Amino acid sequence: MKLTVVGGGSTYTPELVDGIARMRADLPVSELVLADPDAGRLELVGGLAARMLARAGHPGTVRTTCDLDDAVDGATVVLLQLRVGGQTARHVDETLPLACGCVGQETTGAGGLAKALRTVPVVLDIAERVSARAPDAWIIDFTNPVGIVTRALLDAGHRAAGLCNVAIGVQRRAAGLLGVPPDRVSLGHAGLNHLTWVRSVDLDGKDVLPGLLDDHPGELAEAAGLPAAFLRRLGAVPSYYLRYFYQHDLVVEEQRGAPSRAEQVAALERDLLAMYADPTLDTKPARLEERGGAYYSEAAVQLAASLLTGRGDAQVVNVRNGGTLPFLDDRAVIEVPARITAAGPVPLPVPPLEPLLAGLVAHVSAYEELALDAALRGGVDRVAAALLAHPLIGQLDVADRLARDLVAANRAHLPWA
Ligand code: G6P
Ligand code: MN
Repeated sequence: MKLTVVGGGSTYTPELVDGIARMRADLPVSELVLADPDAGRLELVGGLAARMLARAGHPGTVRTTCDLDDAVDGATVVLLQLRVGGQTARHVDETLPLACGCVGQETTGAGGLAKALRTVPVVLDIAERVSARAPDAWIIDFTNPVGIVTRALLDAGHRAAGLCNVAIGVQRRAAGLLGVPPDRVSLGHAGLNHLTWVRSVDLDGKDVLPGLLDDHPGELAEAAGLPAAFLRRLGAVPSYYLRYFYQHDLVVEEQRGAPSRAEQVAALERDLLAMYADPTLDTKPARLEERGGAYYSEAAVQLAASLLTGRGDAQVVNVRNGGTLPFLDDRAVIEVPARITAAGPVPLPVPPLEPLLAGLVAHVSAYEELALDAALRGGVDRVAAALLAHPLIGQLDVADRLARDLVAANRAHLPWA
């Protein structure tokens, strides 16, 4: 099978290639195509990818191209992992909101909206090309903001599922704490992308989360970036993105004067690319672990394998709500465990969300709908409406100012501005 990675020049790609090499029995990739507009990066990343597959004795070939139509032609799976505007645009997302006292983050709050505005048109264009040249392909979207981008893809009628590594990260951590292999552990994970809680941890049919919270409060609190006592009160493990809500002002204080994550990642990427250029390197370098993408490869390979074979296992994905969370629009995209069939992911039932969780989910889902509308139709007023709907912004003056400033700063990436 042909697997195409759009944004294949990303420094994350060796993580993915490592998974392809290790899990070849699950996903028989015969041709790996890395597509990227940056030919220089493609050469470095493509070279390492080829050496990694060769070292693993994997029979697949690696090809790089800047031509998207050629890249997707006849593909079985197309993985989207691109970043419009690179770390430069991300730095703006992470710093501009701070001037208004709002969190600077690439997927949460105003920064996440700016990223959606830049990204949705590009992803929809790519998906159109996939539909034309590989109509049966599955599109797996790792491109943020995953909830909004997946909704855009599904609304446009594409065969797509959204993926994030937060859930698999918690699953691996829980399995580690329990001292059992990860495949025996499944999570009662629910919410929206980057707005989720793990409310149960199933081990061989039993919920072991209460015991985990009693026995390992420190480890779980560290993973969430929130106090252990709070996790116990909640009876759940929030994703670390919830810290931007529950400790918003504290995070803003920390962010002021500190280097942005974009600056840190840009420096790390320079080092990584220099390593990738070494012709003797044929494995994923340990420093790649300093990026946020742990287990991304395993999640992506497993999802692709299940979509292709219809093996019907449960995986956490971004999927249409379809009544799963009854207080949301059926067409909203949620992040929950779903049965992965050949016809796509089918969300599994979710026990009713407590008001504390449901309120935030409903609020952010409404924001996501308005954010998508702004990304599709443009206009500063639509951008301001989405910001007004966001629980971390919500005030008229701030929403108007941020809308104006974000649109001005992103003009080069917005088709309508
Ligand atoms: C996690 C999130 C991704 C996000 C990444 C950022 O993996 O699930 O959605 O893109 O972190 O990592 P970075 O190294 O770019 O800060
Ligand atoms: Mn994610």
